[in-house]
Amino acid sequence: MTDRIPTDKECIDLLWDAGCKKRVVVHCATVRAVAEVIAEGIPQADMDLVIAGALLHDIGRSKDHSIMHAYLGSKIAEDYKLPRSIVEIIRKHTGAGLDEEDVEAMGLPPGDYMPSTIEEKIVAHADNMVSDNRVVPHQHSVDKLMSKGAEKGALRVEMLHRELSDLFGRDLDTIIPEIGEYPKLKHVKP
Ligand SMILES: [Fe+2]
Repeated sequence: MTDRIPTDKECIDLLWDAGCKKRVVVHCATVRAVAEVIAEGIPQADMDLVIAGALLHDIGRSKDHSIMHAYLGSKIAEDYKLPRSIVEIIRKHTGAGLDEEDVEAMGLPPGDYMPSTIEEKIVAHADNMVSDNRVVPHQHSVDKLMSKGAEKGALRVEMLHRELSDLFGRDLDTIIPEIGEYPKLKHVKP
């Protein structure tokens, strides 16, 4: 395991190498665009880590699109000997995290699936504000979780949105017009 955070180009190459489809790579690059803007407004966040974590968060979708993709992605990141901080971001990125009860109910391998560092929180929430290749208000994820009956998860997304919006200094939904619904992506031709 190295401590060096991979560059943008290296992260994208890892996504292809792992076998991700273009749609997943484009999604990851879109989450990266949102995460970068959030991290710019929260100076205590490590920008390089946020960017690499955002790009790699869905690397597990090379294997599986179920909730298991976060766990599988963390294992792939370990195989690539990526820094522990990135492995953790990947495992904890679904929604605003999963508590022990969720982990058991979903049949996931036991572990910590709850984002706790600022970088883990930013990546998880940037993903909550992206639907496929489109930047959307956080309510989109809240509604999606509610429609699945995941009320607790929906409330958690709402709370994470407020927490990060407070640190950012204004409601994070207001960054959408600045980023654009379909942001310009670096290193990926959609
Ligand atoms: Fe994901």
